[in-house]
Amino acid sequence: MSVEFASFLYLVSGVLFILALRGLSHPTSSRQGNIFGMAGMGLAVLTTLLLAGPSLGGLALIVLGIALGGGAGAVIARRIPMTAMPQLVAAFHSLVGLAAVMVAAAALYAPESIGIGVVGAIHAQALVEMSIGVAIGAITFTGSIVAFLKLDGRMSGKPILLPSRHLVNVALAVLLVALVIAFAATQSHALFWLVVLVSLALGVLLIVPIGGADMPVVVSMLNSYSGWAAAGIGFTLQNLALIITGALVGSSGAILSYIMCKGMNRSFVSVILGGFGGDTAGPAGADLGDRTVKQGSAEDAAYLMKNAGRVIIVPGYGMAVAQAQHALREMADTLKREGVEVKYAIHPVAGRMPGHMNVLLAEANVPYDEVFELEDINSEFAQTDVAFVIGANDVTNPSARGDKTSPIYGMPILNVDQAQTCLFIKRSLGSGYAGIDNSLFYKDNTMMLFADAKKMVEDIVKALAH
Ligand code: TAP
Repeated sequence: MSVEFASFLYLVSGVLFILALRGLSHPTSSRQGNIFGMAGMGLAVLTTLLLAGPSLGGLALIVLGIALGGGAGAVIARRIPMTAMPQLVAAFHSLVGLAAVMVAAAALYAPESIGIGVVGAIHAQALVEMSIGVAIGAITFTGSIVAFLKLDGRMSGKPILLPSRHLVNVALAVLLVALVIAFAATQSHALFWLVVLVSLALGVLLIVPIGGADMPVVVSMLNSYSGWAAAGIGFTLQNLALIITGALVGSSGAILSYIMCKGMNRSFVSVILGGFGGDTAGPAGADLGDRTVKQGSAEDAAYLMKNAGRVIIVPGYGMAVAQAQHALREMADTLKREGVEVKYAIHPVAGRMPGHMNVLLAEANVPYDEVFELEDINSEFAQTDVAFVIGANDVTNPSARGDKTSPIYGMPILNVDQAQTCLFIKRSLGSGYAGIDNSLFYKDNTMMLFADAKKMVEDIVKALAH
């Protein structure tokens, strides 16, 4: 295959990736988006194979690699529960980082195979691309492993604040730049591995001080890094598809990080600098201990909602844990048959990953036109009879509005307290992800429904039938 034709096919796969991203931006088109993405990747892999024309032995190794990686990916994707998706994504990013390091090392040891020179006399431009790619790749590798350990609960979610950490990080970053320059000048293999070593350390040190509540932003930031690492390596390998996909992943990850920061009202810089989100009990909890709560039953909830004109459902992480989405849709269908208007309100960081609630509701075939984003529905709570909060907590916590000492102060929340009655399904008065008490539980117009979300909704459906 000619290089020109291969470039054309890479361009086609780039267009398919862009169509994939576009499709994935809305639930109705996301399946189609996925298909575009798969087609783009298939075409890119096939083109690379045909262009390189590997020997029979090489081809066997490549097919074996694809079979092993693809097989493992398929098994993991089938087995992984939705709630463990963030840590899975973090684990996968670490592999992208590691792959970038491996590819750069291969290019260093066998430059002639990809036409960037010979050992000891690699083109200057390739050396710079290689060292930047390998540095970002190594940072992504260890950073993603730390993110995985924190998200999976294998390491404390609390920020680990080392003394003089900012100073140490700046010193390491300066050292890294110096090493990259020295490596580019000398092409020393030892210096290359020093670049890798310092970057690996920097990856750990950058992520360790970041607290649990900021982890989603970090995962998306590492996603962005992994994209830039791939793009860097794409330049080294002169592979157009890798450059395009790397840039797409890099920029979309950066945009997603920005959107999430906005959703949590956190500045990007303060997330990167770390040290937030490890508190287990916020100051808001201190004076709430001896207050009483109003507790209700499934029958109470059914009665209230049956007689309501409008109900807004607010799903959160607990709905995902309980897998209550199917029962929830059944409940909504029953209410609609009774003439009640039912809508769903989604907070941008409800659950544990972007779009988490949308995916679950789509899985239960909830009509898309009943699902609204925070900014489109928040003003409606004041004219709503019942806000039905199912497994959500932080995204409704009013301390974000008024308590400057609260770790979530400034995060926009769903105004469920403005509804005439607020029903809260959860198992206890326990806190959510941010680890802070929620004063809503103790309000006069709140009724707590203590139970597993799925069980409670099923009981409500039964009660509605009577
Ligand atoms: P949370 O504030 O985490 O609250 C979830 C609540 O669900 C808990 O208080 C828990 O209370 C309840 N729950 C757990 N299992 C349940 C079950 N089986 N049945 C009924 N209730 C159950 O959730 P949220 O309101 O969705 O807020 C999300 C939080 O996660 C935010 O702080 C956000 O910043 C953070 N975060 C978000 C993301 C993204 S990108 N979405 C990623 C990581 C972290 P009980 O224990 O009393 O039942």
